[in-house]
Amino acid sequence: MEEKIIAVTRGDGVGPEVVDEGLKILKLIAKFTNFDFKFKDAPAGGEVYKKYGNNLPERSFDIIKSADALIFGAVGLPDLPPGVAETAILRIRQELDLYVNLRPIKLYEPLRDRCPLKDEFIGNGIDITFVRENTEGLYANIGNISDDKAENLMIYTRKGCERIIRYAYEFAKTMGHSKVTSVDKANILKPSQLWRKIFHEIGIEYPNLQKEDFYIDAFCQWLIREPDKFQTVVTGNMFGDIISDEGAFLIGSLGMASSGNIHPGKISMYEPIHGSAPDISGKGIANPIGAILSVKLMMQESFQSPAIAKEIELSVEESLKEGRTIDLQNPDIKNLTTKEMGDLIAEKLKLRLKT
Ligand code: NAD
Ligand code: IPM
Ligand code: MN
Repeated sequence: MEEKIIAVTRGDGVGPEVVDEGLKILKLIAKFTNFDFKFKDAPAGGEVYKKYGNNLPERSFDIIKSADALIFGAVGLPDLPPGVAETAILRIRQELDLYVNLRPIKLYEPLRDRCPLKDEFIGNGIDITFVRENTEGLYANIGNISDDKAENLMIYTRKGCERIIRYAYEFAKTMGHSKVTSVDKANILKPSQLWRKIFHEIGIEYPNLQKEDFYIDAFCQWLIREPDKFQTVVTGNMFGDIISDEGAFLIGSLGMASSGNIHPGKISMYEPIHGSAPDISGKGIANPIGAILSVKLMMQESFQSPAIAKEIELSVEESLKEGRTIDLQNPDIKNLTTKEMGDLIAEKLKLRLKT
């Protein structure tokens, strides 16, 4: 029996709605495999801030630090000033040194009808993994604000660049990719110049992988123009945040995209890339697949179970032919609530795990 403690931060808005569907999948895995999960609530975010004046109470953070993995919903409330809830994520990423933000963007075959691109642009399909640096850059939290002036320092260290770029090359090698793409703004930003230099220095150790660089602005159009040309894409913190939301809509909806905030070998955090979606929260219509695929990443990355991870992914893909939440609407396919979507995927997974 493999016993694992999973910290659960449901968060705000649609966070709790989608996390509950992720937990449904974990409970099923516990029932049909040799994993045994113990769940511990670690509340954080805007609602918690309103109660305790702190978006990440020490009690919650202690639970997170002593867990084997963390599943996280989303934080942020429209009636709080920007940042009041959101800094909870940054604190977790910084203090646990979760330097890798792995963000796969894969267009599942049944969702081709929801891809906003014409077939000629989709080409051979979309299957990209963004490897986003997750602790430095503009997110290093070095800044000041007054009424007259506000500043953030964009900082990249050699150590910070080396470890994420090496991770990306290793990831590409493991996945059997032929190429690694780096996205920066080296034509203007000093940290990007260091980044690009290190990308090529480390690249020498991977002679079998092609290397290519793009500036972020042009990359944004290439991502739409020829998404099938990309496999592993490594980039800085801010650029990675933006291009992963762009990528998420290419695969049908922001609600489809998952992520792992990873420090290899240590506690890592798994979350859908979307936010608390105040425009749809409380209605039970949010797409839970980003959260469910985050559980897939947890099984794959933290618990070294690629076979279970694959079964989750196949269950998602299969389910999308039969039912979908409203963001993926198709008149020929049944419209489901968040909970019904989770149930359908769980039903498929149950059949797969039983056999
Ligand atoms: P958002 O990601 O919450 O929503 C953007 C759009 O995508 C909305 O129309 C929303 O309805 C839709 N969407 C998001 N998730 C969906 C899902 N699961 N199913 C269907 N549709 C979905 O971005 P926003 O509106 O800019 O931000 C809202 C709040 O969330 C802000 O406070 C922001 O700071 C915060 N935020 C938090 C996280 C996080 O906790 N990881 C990430 C991004 C934004
Ligand atoms: C994300 C979010 C966060 C980020 C915010 C909420 C701090 O947008 O995880 O993509 O900018 O990284
Ligand atoms: Mn984001």
